[in-house]
Amino acid sequence: MQIAIDGPAGSGKTSIAKALAEKLGFIHLDTGAMFRALSVILSEEGVRDEKCIEERIRGLELRMIPQGVEIEGRELTDELRTEEIDREVSYYSQLRTVRDWLLFKQRQMADQQDVIMDGRDIATVVLPRAEVKIFLDASEDVRAMRRTLQSGRLDDYPEILADIQRRDQVDSQREIAPLKVAEDAMLIDTTEMSFDEVLETILRLVEEKR
Ligand code: DC
Repeated sequence: MQIAIDGPAGSGKTSIAKALAEKLGFIHLDTGAMFRALSVILSEEGVRDEKCIEERIRGLELRMIPQGVEIEGRELTDELRTEEIDREVSYYSQLRTVRDWLLFKQRQMADQQDVIMDGRDIATVVLPRAEVKIFLDASEDVRAMRRTLQSGRLDDYPEILADIQRRDQVDSQREIAPLKVAEDAMLIDTTEMSFDEVLETILRLVEEKR
């Protein structure tokens, strides 16, 4: 079975996907972490031109590990979620070379096993035949507040909100695989829902489809 969860930054999709995977015994694939891992490598090396990116990522080894991503044998965990990478990932994730390369990897990883994949274009592009498709949303204030509480730095709220607004704009307006609700997806607005309520709602849907 394939479960696709899409949604904007801070909608809770990765935490929900993780909890669901644990409950159901499925593999969880966080595609945002994959885009972030590539952005770490490419921005560190200053590789920005698409031709150079294509050469650099050809044959690159990337696999998911419990705390993050292993890329060329290097484990990336905290490095994936810095403010710098929040900015860099918007640049790299709109490039066709990067998206095509990851699309191939993501489909390969999802092949022949029960998976929950979360991202922006999972239901629309990566796994269009997923049996369960969820789009998680919430107001931008609530999403920024959730991220602020996660970071533990309450003073950072204004910058976190601004980053969320900027990424919403870039993610939904880019030409290739923009963030949008798939026609056959269930839209869940989590603004006033608890984590457990969201989890229960999705679990019920999974049981119906099984
Ligand atoms: O889910 P996240 O915030 O970790 O994702 C980081 C960025 O990666 C996000 O701003 C856009 C990009 N992304 C994407 O373009 N497509 C995906 N399937 C997942 C993430």
